[in-house]
Amino acid sequence: MSIHTPKIEKKVTLSTIAKMKGKEPITMVTAYDALFASLFDGEVEMILVGDSLNMSFYGKPDTLSATMDQMIYHTQAVCNGAKLPCIVFDMPFGSYLTPQQALENAARVYRETDAQAVKIEGGREKVEVVRALADNGIAVVAHIGLMPQHVRSEGGYKVRGKDAEDIERLVDDAKALEAAGAAMVLVEGIKSEAAKAVTEAVSVPTIGIGAGNVTDGQVLVWSDMFGFFEAFKPKFVKRYVAGAKLIREGIEAYRNEVKERIFPDTEHSY
Ligand code: KIV
Repeated sequence: MSIHTPKIEKKVTLSTIAKMKGKEPITMVTAYDALFASLFDGEVEMILVGDSLNMSFYGKPDTLSATMDQMIYHTQAVCNGAKLPCIVFDMPFGSYLTPQQALENAARVYRETDAQAVKIEGGREKVEVVRALADNGIAVVAHIGLMPQHVRSEGGYKVRGKDAEDIERLVDDAKALEAAGAAMVLVEGIKSEAAKAVTEAVSVPTIGIGAGNVTDGQVLVWSDMFGFFEAFKPKFVKRYVAGAKLIREGIEAYRNEVKERIFPDTEHSY
């Protein structure tokens, strides 16, 4: 029996999150399956089913080949495992190229999963997409700054907001997205000064990743923060657990015990 007491006891809605701006930092992590989602249930306000799963779970070099089917499948699993957090579906690359296509795909997310919002990457150029979704009752998290789906077109992952001109651009993007109906703005890989300016410029909550300690909330990719993904570690990732090391120790102990006929012992046999 679990002796763990969850910190959050009621379902977290988008209006709960909206009210937290400027009052209490919002916690968000990614999850891709029911097992881990159930461990995060009651601990964080939000779960993002990120297309980062394409890299950490599917072993791909970037997020670009993630598909709607794949994201729906993982979001259903996460929704089965976690009942309390507000769950956000990450729209994969190529699934929101036009307002109509975005609407059809996002409507499918609401029909086939219990996710409460969808996330799309893009600034002012995505205003019409955000408006089409918001006007049709679909909540949108707008992702600006370093956008992983742009990795090929931009030739890498580039930190943004390094000068006044770019900060102004990010602020204008955030304001335009909020005006179009975005329920939240996620800022990734931007200087703290830029994140602060964006957070102060909009009345919706901002969630940061690699954006300093100035946003309304924080998000981390679970396989990074728990040390399971070791291929590379961005500067902003803090590893709270040495996950991969623990698993390696466990698998080595199992292998040795099987080879030496120590496992299974009488305690683990019928
Ligand atoms: O896919 C993802 O996990 C994300 C986070 C990096 C915010 O978009």
